[in-house]
Amino acid sequence: MLKIFGFLKKLFVNNSFVINYRRMWPYVKPYWFRALLSVLVAIPIGSMDAVIALALRPYMDLVMVEKSLASSWYIPIVIVVFTCIQGALTYASEYLNTWVGTKITNRLKYDLYKKMLSYDTDYFTKTNSGDVLFTFNNNADMACSGLLNNLKSFVEKVFRSIALVGVLFYNSWQLALVCSFVLFGALLPMTSLRRKLNGVFSQNILADSALLTMYNETYAGNRTISAYNLEDYQQNKFKHLLHNVFIIRLKMLQKTRWLTPVMHIISSVGIGLSIWFGSHLILSGQITSGAFVSFLTALIMLYQPIKGLGNTYNSVLMSFLAIERVFDIFATVPKILNIKNPKPFDSTFKTIQLKDLYFEYDAGVPVLKDINLTVNRGETLALVGNSGGGKTTVVNLLPRFYDATSGGVYVDDINIKEFDLHSLRQNIAVVFQDNFLFSGTIRENILLGNENATEEEIQNAVKMAYLDDFIAGLKHGLDTRIGERGMMLSGGQRQRVAIARAFLKNAPILILDEATSALDNKSEAVVQKAIENLMQDKTVFVIAHRLSTIRNATKIAVINEGRIVEEGTHSQLLKNECGAYKMLYDMQFKSKEQNEQS
Ligand SMILES: Nc1ncnc2c1ncn2[C@@H]1O[C@H](COP(=O)(O)OP(=O)(O)O)[C@@H](O)[C@H]1O
Ligand SMILES: [Mg+2]
Repeated sequence: MLKIFGFLKKLFVNNSFVINYRRMWPYVKPYWFRALLSVLVAIPIGSMDAVIALALRPYMDLVMVEKSLASSWYIPIVIVVFTCIQGALTYASEYLNTWVGTKITNRLKYDLYKKMLSYDTDYFTKTNSGDVLFTFNNNADMACSGLLNNLKSFVEKVFRSIALVGVLFYNSWQLALVCSFVLFGALLPMTSLRRKLNGVFSQNILADSALLTMYNETYAGNRTISAYNLEDYQQNKFKHLLHNVFIIRLKMLQKTRWLTPVMHIISSVGIGLSIWFGSHLILSGQITSGAFVSFLTALIMLYQPIKGLGNTYNSVLMSFLAIERVFDIFATVPKILNIKNPKPFDSTFKTIQLKDLYFEYDAGVPVLKDINLTVNRGETLALVGNSGGGKTTVVNLLPRFYDATSGGVYVDDINIKEFDLHSLRQNIAVVFQDNFLFSGTIRENILLGNENATEEEIQNAVKMAYLDDFIAGLKHGLDTRIGERGMMLSGGQRQRVAIARAFLKNAPILILDEATSALDNKSEAVVQKAIENLMQDKTVFVIAHRLSTIRNATKIAVINEGRIVEEGTHSQLLKNECGAYKMLYDMQFKSKEQNEQS
């Protein structure tokens, strides 16, 4: 008894169909009526095939056997009329399906995209672009296409089969019993499929997303590929990936596509048996030849939906796996989150402090150790030190790209985790070494700093960023398109667009992470002037390789291997003859300074 109950529960409650459809319900709900309609329409469409098979019986018996013309006119009409109705319904069903399907897919994609925006720096650092594309786009497509389309075609095929089986029984119950038995056997192999699919399906996704990443890298890295003659190397890598896809596709085929031929063979056994048995029944006068022809037609027509059921079942399973992946994404919680009841950031703050701060990207590998720093409002803190020492990591903690492992960043003694994330980031402007510009115009990119800026504010930002001469020389001025990632601009121009953007943002805290390091001397000088404008009246964290920026800083902290090894003003630090700053100064800044003077 318990066993039966368990089985029923498994069948109706814990069944993956039920679970997955229940998960998708919030997406179907707003359109449930149309969705239901589109599935219900499949029932008459499926059933109507039976009419043709059914009509053959009176036709055979009356016209062919009894040589009567009575039914010869209405049977063709019935067939044509029913086919017309079926056609109209098919169109209606496709229309409904596309309407509902696209709505559902779009809602799901929209939510997934929102989720993607909530992910933190860590996720994007560790995940390939191909994986991201696949996870957020392709999965949603697969999940939804399976949901309605396959359900519809599943329902259609089931009802087509039921109606045709009805015709079988109507014509001869003995023959029908034999065939049903065989056909039921044909459906059995479907049950073992799901388990087998799971593993290959994940492999398939990995292989496909590796391809996507490769396209993306080739696009983004095309200059490096040309410069290093990497064409052959990339080509080989790509070939290897394609081969991988090939192997996995074949594996998928081996695991799934045996289903169709097996069902095929079983069905043909059914047809063979019924011809053999049917001949006996006709000859012994138990059924009419019309009944037998109608029976055989129905049986042959049955073949199509039953064969198709296997494939549809495959796609349904695939979409279930996609749904599972989609909901795994929804279930993940980003690490950087607002606390409950966060405070708004107070932009009239007095001090920013890093207290006893430790940080690790990967557990067990400390990157920052025991960092203590205080910066007062309006001061400039310069971070210097060997490459890889942890300077960028320090400034990444301010806008909470990452959170400290222990200790933390405090603004007027409030841990920044207590601030509303949006409000915190609203108060920080960042200029990186390589700033991301979006495809679009210069104006659009600058306006990202403050979408409500007036024309006057834009012009001022352009002037302060030393972009005015450049823009005046452009045919379309501020509305010049700059290509994906701003590729149509020079490095210095890109930096200045980013600086103008930061100007418009007008945030009290400014982070400059090697904003001029990637530039040649000439464009560096202009960008430097723009940066000096930007630094006015701001609390600045600056990582720079130029002495002029560092020399004027209120305070300089030297970071080596994740620790602050020295702290003070330029002149204080230079006095320590064997200090870390003196060494850096002799190695980097002094020669640079001589260059600048010459
Ligand atoms: N996303 C990351 N995951 C793991 N390690 C990282 C990551 N980013 C940087 N690191 C490591 O952290 C250390 C400090 O890097 P970084 O702060 O960029 O140095 P700097 O800016 O001083 O050159 C380096 O050893 C670097 O390899
Ligand atoms: Mg750095």
